[in-house]
Amino acid sequence: MKSYKIAVIPGDGTGPEMVREGLKVLEASAQKFGFKLEFTPFDYGGDRYLRTGEVLPEGAIGELKKFQAIFLGAIGHPEVKPGILEKGILLRMRFELDQYINLRPVKLYEGVDTPLKDKGPEDIDFVVVRENTEGLYTGSGGFLKKGTPAEIAVQESINTRMGVERCLRYAFQYCRERNKKKTLTLCGKTNVLTYAFDLWERAFHEVGEEYPDINREYAHVDAICMWMVKNPEQFDVIVTDNMFGDIITDLGAMIQGGMGIAAGGNINPGGTSMFEPIGGSAPKYTGKNIINPLASICAGSMMLKHLGEEEAAAAVEKAVMAVCARDIKSLSAGRMGYSTSEVGDLVVSYL
Ligand code: IPM
Ligand code: MN
Repeated sequence: MKSYKIAVIPGDGTGPEMVREGLKVLEASAQKFGFKLEFTPFDYGGDRYLRTGEVLPEGAIGELKKFQAIFLGAIGHPEVKPGILEKGILLRMRFELDQYINLRPVKLYEGVDTPLKDKGPEDIDFVVVRENTEGLYTGSGGFLKKGTPAEIAVQESINTRMGVERCLRYAFQYCRERNKKKTLTLCGKTNVLTYAFDLWERAFHEVGEEYPDINREYAHVDAICMWMVKNPEQFDVIVTDNMFGDIITDLGAMIQGGMGIAAGGNINPGGTSMFEPIGGSAPKYTGKNIINPLASICAGSMMLKHLGEEEAAAAVEKAVMAVCARDIKSLSAGRMGYSTSEVGDLVVSYL
């Protein structure tokens, strides 16, 4: 029987409750489809940091590299200054495990409310491929004369030809395999960021020559925000840099029904990838058993697909769709009509 070693990082706030349901569904899918998942928990997160003063222990990254995938809840603690856990845990894993793709599907399921008037599941179904190791996220830059009236803060966007090209190639390939509109849209800002997106645009068309079956489109990031609201049906796959990808995928999450359902994968095609809900740790709902676990369950489905368990992945997604269409009243915490664990049970029952 096939067996997969999975590192589990429940993290902070409602992360553990969501992960609990995600694992419940993963376990059920493994039983049904005849493979084994070996889960190993890690206590990385805000509580551990407050207790030990350490964000990630020595050797943590090396340890994580031994797993086929990482299943993550949420990182972020109200008593820890913003930036410490994000940079010290989440971004460090993305960077050091070289998870250079952040894959974020934006798909509206039947029965889920979108704030977009007159738009339905047939209109909202695209995927954002976000570069995940470069751009404004590298930490390149610094202060000069900090704390004085002449203070200077520089934050640089780093774009390497290699980094951009591997991201583009992944996006073209993904678009080809997805086999829908066969259209890849580069989201940039070539009218202002004339160095960074000049490189992106040149690489886009050069790599695109290798994919003659894929239509190439370009749109500025501000226009993309407009179109995502006005005509989301025009999109198939969008590829973009780290910062723009961060921003447009929050907008994407909202049009697909909210953080209750939005999931993503941090992918290193040749290494250890990590799957997570896009939303944060939602500390105010912690321990109440009212948070929506569907985002974690959807992250689980993405992980199964990545591991090659396509059938199981599709079955989990189908079960989530059934819960959305038939059972839960809203995707918002506390308004689902069911508790967190009941929603997990419902998904398992459809499986
Ligand atoms: C996300 C998050 C992270 C990001 C934060 C928590 C560092 O917003 O996964 O989109 O900016 O990438
Ligand atoms: Mn974000």
